[in-house]
Amino acid sequence: MSFPARVFSGIQPSGKLHLGNYLGAIKRFVPLQDTHNCIYCVVDMHAITVWQDPEKLYNSTLEVAAAYLAAGIDAEKSIIFNQSQVVQHAELAWIFNCVARMGWMQRMTQFKDKAGKNSQNVSLGLFAYPALMAADILLYKATHVPVGEDQKQHLELTRDIAIKFNNDYNVNFFPITEPLIAGETARIMSLRDGTKKMSSSDPSDLAKISLTDSADLIAKKIKKAKSDADNLPFEVAGLKGRPEADNLVGIYAALSEKSKQGILDEFGGKGFGVFKPALAELAVEKLAPINKKISLYLNDKKQIEDILHSGAERAREIATKTMKEVHNIIGFVN
Ligand code: TRP
Repeated sequence: MSFPARVFSGIQPSGKLHLGNYLGAIKRFVPLQDTHNCIYCVVDMHAITVWQDPEKLYNSTLEVAAAYLAAGIDAEKSIIFNQSQVVQHAELAWIFNCVARMGWMQRMTQFKDKAGKNSQNVSLGLFAYPALMAADILLYKATHVPVGEDQKQHLELTRDIAIKFNNDYNVNFFPITEPLIAGETARIMSLRDGTKKMSSSDPSDLAKISLTDSADLIAKKIKKAKSDADNLPFEVAGLKGRPEADNLVGIYAALSEKSKQGILDEFGGKGFGVFKPALAELAVEKLAPINKKISLYLNDKKQIEDILHSGAERAREIATKTMKEVHNIIGFVN
């Protein structure tokens, strides 16, 4: 049995959307609509693996949906919805909790990083999270998943779960999903520490650029971004060991849709006194239209809710069919 090409990806509605979410994920989701059936989810059930303020969760959910729409995801062509409206995600996640092995889960580096020394006191959901992510993907038999480098291990787990399920029940039911890992420029790091991923949970507001930041604030954050004392190199190899310089060049490249080398061809030999203002100008120019569209969508919450409702209806149709087959395969009495 072959599987039709289908893309699934998701973003958590926890905190404000930032430049990393946009360049590393949302922007890459758009062109896939021309070649694949795409499902883009706001993964609210993932968000609550750490406590979320209910009002903020609600607003962030609408904000992620608004950003999908503002970036150019077409709600007719693709499916946009929030995870908790389709209960089958939780149902399949339970079944996958029974397929995945403790050893596999204990190897997940993201859990180890997030739990840190606090591992006895984090939620069980945070530990089980990768099985829910596998359920998100396999519920729709997605063949391709665009994700950042940091999610690669979760994708491998998804493949392991699909393989074990297929073997345990002697079926060829779930596809072996391929990750679509972003290129060199899509990994956006903190503006205060080039070795850390840009993250909405970063306590420093200067570390991240939010999609809803004003033009002035964007320019200010870029001017204050950590850099170093040297001029930019002429070759990409010269960025090695200079994480902040590498990140700023990468952001410029991603915003302008060029390679890092292309940017160094222009700025090699120049200092940050020249490069940062150019980057600030470019960032404002590229983000302002998105920013404006997001606010317009957010002015009409009812419209976004309607889009999420009808997206959920379409998602549920696929999910119901998958779960019916899963019940039969497992031996659940329907
Ligand atoms: N875990 C992903 C992240 O934190 C979000 C996510 C949840 C996801 N389910 C998914 C991504 C399914 C791709 C496919 O970025």
